[in-house]
Amino acid sequence: MRDRFLRACRRQPVDRTPIWLMRQAGRYMPEYRAVRERYGFLQMVKTPEVAAEVTLQPIQAFGVDAAIIFADILPPLEGLGFQLTYEKGEGPVIHNPIRQPRDVAALHSSDPRETVAYTLTALRLVKRELNGLPLIGFSGAPFTLASYAIEGGGSKEYRLTKRFMYEQPAAWHDLMERLSQLVAEYLIAQVEAGADAVQIFDSWAGALAPADYRDFVLRHTQNVVATVRSRLGEAAPPIIYFGTDMAGLAGELRQIGADVLGVDWRIDLDVAWAQYGYEHAVQGNLDPTTLFAPRELIAARAREILQRAGGRPGHIFNLGHGILTETPVDHVRYLVEFVQSFPLPAETP
Ligand code: CP3
Repeated sequence: MRDRFLRACRRQPVDRTPIWLMRQAGRYMPEYRAVRERYGFLQMVKTPEVAAEVTLQPIQAFGVDAAIIFADILPPLEGLGFQLTYEKGEGPVIHNPIRQPRDVAALHSSDPRETVAYTLTALRLVKRELNGLPLIGFSGAPFTLASYAIEGGGSKEYRLTKRFMYEQPAAWHDLMERLSQLVAEYLIAQVEAGADAVQIFDSWAGALAPADYRDFVLRHTQNVVATVRSRLGEAAPPIIYFGTDMAGLAGELRQIGADVLGVDWRIDLDVAWAQYGYEHAVQGNLDPTTLFAPRELIAARAREILQRAGGRPGHIFNLGHGILTETPVDHVRYLVEFVQSFPLPAETP
């Protein structure tokens, strides 16, 4: 059953729980570091053969149940006119962030089929090598992309983002509309290039009060999902919406229209699933830091998650957020084997 990941996204029965890991291709892998020594990160993303090679590394090393294309959420912003670099130890930096409404008006319109053609080519290359194993495409969500566009990089409090949102609501919604169109177009292009499912990373939306999510973000996230679905019709893939610290936003998440909702480790999986509603599949939710613990603890925490899923169709095992640098590779292999050999518990009614 090579499609168990897609079946789980659609809440169909599977032979065992599928597992993949966010950021599964990355610096914790010696094979990745060997390639990375020769290229800058953006250069890797922009060279389809290299992106394809790195995408396949965790498939070969661990036999996970899905591949996720090697890319990043920020390069599509270059098409709007943002200058992006990745600095050692700092992560991404946008050198011309938005500070005023006129900065939004000055953004370029862009076609991701041209500006991130390299990722679409990489998808086509990977697809040929997967023998039917599902391939996940992804994009940042409008809010998380807006936060980088306004802060100019990562942030703890999102003070600039929230101020802009509160003080310049018209420009904010203009920005969010431009980003939503870009995201929808990019996801559609990825599906046309071979992605079998798409994940929308709203990593930092959990920083918002529910009322702010409702007033400033929800409609744009909904628009992305609705556009992908209506444009692709029958060919629309499962859509995964992921964020961290989302436990207080369950009522809003239910309204997005995603097939699968990501769950981080700050909430028990069954509690989240009940709040999100069983019409959604769920993906998660091991704390990535658990992979630094002894094997017995990794096994205990993974077992608990599988038991909380209760054999109900629609659970995809994953971490609650991306795998951390320096994670021991043998612990990753151990986790994947543990989940893949775990007998599905009889479904709890
Ligand atoms: O899951 C995968 O294996 C696919 C690849 C992937 C990357 N970034 C590769 C990457 C994915 C899905 C992302 C998404 C991403 N990128 C998000 C959303 C997911 C999340 O983690 O919340 C965000 C917020 C970004 C932005 C970003 N890119 C940051 C903050 C950083 C720096 C932090 C870090 O880990 O270095 C990056 C760089 C980045 N993206 C790396 C990788 C493998 C490390 C680059 C390197 O080799 O130096």
